[in-house]
Amino acid sequence: MNHQKQTRRPHPASPTRLMHIRSPLDLDQETMRTLGYRVTDVVAEHLASLRDQPVLTQLGRAEADKLLAGPAPEEPVAFDEIMTIFRERIAAHHAREPHPGFMAYVPSCPTFPAVLGDWLATGFNFYAGIWKVAGGPNEVEVVVLEWFRQWMGMPEGSAGLLTSGGSQANLTAIVAARHAAVGDDATRLARLVMYSSDQTHSSVTRAGWIAGVPRDQVRSVPTDAHRRMDAQALAKQIGLDREGGLIPFLVVANAGTTNTGAVDPMGEIADLCERENVWMHVDGAYGAFAALTPAGRTQLAGMERADTITLDPHKLLFVPFECGCLLAREPARLAAAYRLYPEYLKELEVQGTEVNFADFGEQLTRYSRAMKVWLSVNYFGMKTICEGIQGAMDVARHAESVVRSTEGLEVLSPAQMGIFCFRVKPEGLEDGAELDALNARVLDAINAEGPWFISSTRLDGKLSLRICVTGYRTTRADVEGLMATAVAVATLQPSQ
Ligand SMILES: Cc1ncc(COP(=O)(O)O)c(C=O)c1O
Repeated sequence: MNHQKQTRRPHPASPTRLMHIRSPLDLDQETMRTLGYRVTDVVAEHLASLRDQPVLTQLGRAEADKLLAGPAPEEPVAFDEIMTIFRERIAAHHAREPHPGFMAYVPSCPTFPAVLGDWLATGFNFYAGIWKVAGGPNEVEVVVLEWFRQWMGMPEGSAGLLTSGGSQANLTAIVAARHAAVGDDATRLARLVMYSSDQTHSSVTRAGWIAGVPRDQVRSVPTDAHRRMDAQALAKQIGLDREGGLIPFLVVANAGTTNTGAVDPMGEIADLCERENVWMHVDGAYGAFAALTPAGRTQLAGMERADTITLDPHKLLFVPFECGCLLAREPARLAAAYRLYPEYLKELEVQGTEVNFADFGEQLTRYSRAMKVWLSVNYFGMKTICEGIQGAMDVARHAESVVRSTEGLEVLSPAQMGIFCFRVKPEGLEDGAELDALNARVLDAINAEGPWFISSTRLDGKLSLRICVTGYRTTRADVEGLMATAVAVATLQPSQ
């Protein structure tokens, strides 16, 4: 072997030959560091002082226009001034999802390392759709999906992709199920029927519409007293539809409904789907990560038999928006619906075990959502993350026990997977408009206080106050304070 040093001739366009003129868009390293640290300081200060901030500061459109509207500046604005505008006119007016008192809807409470993972993904601008241009980041997504597969108990070989959120994951699954049912025979489309419970998230219904399922064939199946899909009613409806010449192609089961955290009877639905040869999709956007707790694992048993499962790491896995996930028992069925290589992309096709995530969904250009999951999980380890999930569920259960032992409060739906529904119910005030109006006033008063933001729903016609604890900052003392405030406000409110 020749160990003599080779003298390399410089490339014709190398810096030794040409004077490169730096674009003003291309910042030098020191400037990037200075700006980056400034932003880090702003975020760190914000997160560390959350408890001292109000949960929600709203801003009306007219006021917002006054603060921010205007033409794009022709000349640069000083970074100091940009940050001042950000802090005072933008960040000052929003709902602080990671706040310990944010218990409305489904909060997202990211860890700081997960935020940094997102920053790395965008800092490097990884192109996570195609293996050839991002082997490292794509392998991270493969790894993260494999973690999820194991946590959900799906069989080996199941895989999928990360998505913008649960809505996109549901849509990706439903389009794949439609393709499996219709193939190239478009005449079948008008006869497709899909089923989900009357508690199912609106994104499922909307995905059915987008997928071209006739709107009156997106069926809503009744639920039992625990708001779980009635599997017998489902079986009956499928039978009736077949008799009517329709094509039942998809059942969507809930692994934690948004309303109350209810879990549909997974085993019964899986049996039925097998018998009927119907695609089973599980919407676990809210609750599937509860499988990382002992009680959740038991409650969700049977979910792993689904053809596809939606997960939302930006909910219970403590990563920032946007991060959803679709897992498929047979990823080839996703590829059958989505894979497409025009002439200008031919050389990017993959063989063997390398993965082009663009093959499994509608996004070609996609950023590496896996980085935030991977970084947070590595930083903390799963023991701590599982304890965080368990802790959130425990706080919701504690809220339930406080309500059960407090006069003037009533449980409307027990704590399930961190969601708990209750209302104020002073003695002598029965169901009806007056009691609903009182609860509406209590809701407004609680949200006006500052430390809490909760939402409402309607259960069996009753206006219900609803909390959803998915964050690791919310403590027992927070929900105790909330319940005490509810009682105090109800007591002070005039009954009319
Ligand atoms: C059960 C369920 N499915 C789907 C979604 C939609 O998910 P995303 O908001 O991430 O699109 C949600 C959102 O809360 C949900 O709770």
